[in-house]
Amino acid sequence: MSRLIVISNRVSVPKAAGAAGAQGGLAVALNSALREHRGIWFGWSGQEVEEFTGHLDMQRNQGVTTATIDLEPQDIEEYYNGYANRTLWPLFHYRIDLTEYDRNFGEGYERVNARFADSVRPLIEPDDLVWVHDYHLLPLGSLLRAKGVKNRMGLFLHTPWPPTRLLVSLPFHERLVESMLAYNVIGFQTEEWLNSFLHYLEKEMGLPIGEDGHVEYQGRKILCKAFPIGIDFKEFTEGANSDEAKEAHDKLKASVRGRKMLIGVDRLDYSKGLGERFESFGRFLADNPEQASQVVLLQIAPPSRGDVASYQQIREDLERKTGHINGAYADVAFVPIRYVNRGYPRRQLAGFYRAAEVGLVTPLRDGMNLVAKEYIAAQDPEDPGVLILSQFAGSALQLKDALQVNPHSIEHVSETIKLALAMPLEERRRRHEALYDSVRDTDVVYWREEFVRALFGEEATPDTRESL
Ligand code: ADP
Ligand code: F6P
Repeated sequence: MSRLIVISNRVSVPKAAGAAGAQGGLAVALNSALREHRGIWFGWSGQEVEEFTGHLDMQRNQGVTTATIDLEPQDIEEYYNGYANRTLWPLFHYRIDLTEYDRNFGEGYERVNARFADSVRPLIEPDDLVWVHDYHLLPLGSLLRAKGVKNRMGLFLHTPWPPTRLLVSLPFHERLVESMLAYNVIGFQTEEWLNSFLHYLEKEMGLPIGEDGHVEYQGRKILCKAFPIGIDFKEFTEGANSDEAKEAHDKLKASVRGRKMLIGVDRLDYSKGLGERFESFGRFLADNPEQASQVVLLQIAPPSRGDVASYQQIREDLERKTGHINGAYADVAFVPIRYVNRGYPRRQLAGFYRAAEVGLVTPLRDGMNLVAKEYIAAQDPEDPGVLILSQFAGSALQLKDALQVNPHSIEHVSETIKLALAMPLEERRRRHEALYDSVRDTDVVYWREEFVRALFGEEATPDTRESL
């Protein structure tokens, strides 16, 4: 049976069910995928070491084997804070205003990708399937090929893929994209990002695109396809019905004393549209004074990538906006925005989602967005809340029965909040049923099986496919 070698920037050691959960969609999805497979998860430990040694730390936790390396300060600065999060992340989220182009970042990115290749190479056995994740490691496949790795290798991108007109603003974009063509399978979250990628291959590289999504390059066939990621539905719904979730739900409900609640749960990232969300909530309070003391917004936003200036700015901006709105509408025993900068165990989070009448998921651009799916999965089907979802989240293509909004339009979001709070039970149930079915049917198990099956490709026999 083939093993799975999963490679991603960060390895987030799996947590026991009740512990504070891993943050970020990738960590949540991969913990679940690896628990099902014999295999190894390789990546950066998240730790800094004075000088890179290549030492591999192997551990086994909650049924998952992890292999990690430490990086040195220059690596972290140029590769992680630099090229990954000052260049590619903003560019891939359509924010060329925040995109920094610095040659040192590009060199650091290539150096660390080469370090990943050197370190993981000895772990790869001939029958292993190699599955690389995200924008940090786009050239890793080609570096592994140069080291003689002949295994089937796939890349899954968790972020959007930008339109060609934006991508060509990246110096050496040709080299980056060409390096991706070393993989056998390249997966995207949605057809939209897939089509942008194919458009680039066609227009910039003159490659013909086969009807089945295969691209031919240097005599090899590469499958480019959308694989929308889902949540660990079984684990999450079980968690949502646990005592821990119920306790978290009841405590939160008691604390709002009969008021209605909206909830947002996001890494503190400018792509999540948090500033616009706060403004929209502020507009709702201003336009509906009779409800102003009857509604609470709980925004949970753990800090992310705090060494990058644009993340420091969004943090300051949100603190200012919260202060402004709370200053205007708070009373001695009430504040309209509860703004919390920390992570919570997943079961508690499920209890919080269930306690909220409205889920506010309003990113300006998002590869998929798992929070939207978690909010749906956590609801009481008899009395479900309403999901307000940005039309620019990848999940909007699947979650058609959410109230979809343009997060840039403060008026539109404010009016939609009003609509959601007043929605009759019958309509809430009807919408929730359709959303729930979609979240259940395309969960993380489905995603993983689809990707691994594609990775096996034509070489898989029916027997080997079943063993996955
Ligand atoms: P991204 O990958 O950009 O962070 P997603 O919405 O796809 O966005 O995934 C975020 C994941 O991180 C979700 O599973 C969510 O539950 C988790 N998460 C976000 N904030 C917290 C928090 N404060 N506590 C626990 N988990 C969190
Ligand atoms: O899903 C997007 C993503 O960048 C993942 O690759 C990452 O694990 C997560 O967000 C959290 O980001 P970071 O590892 O930079 O804290």
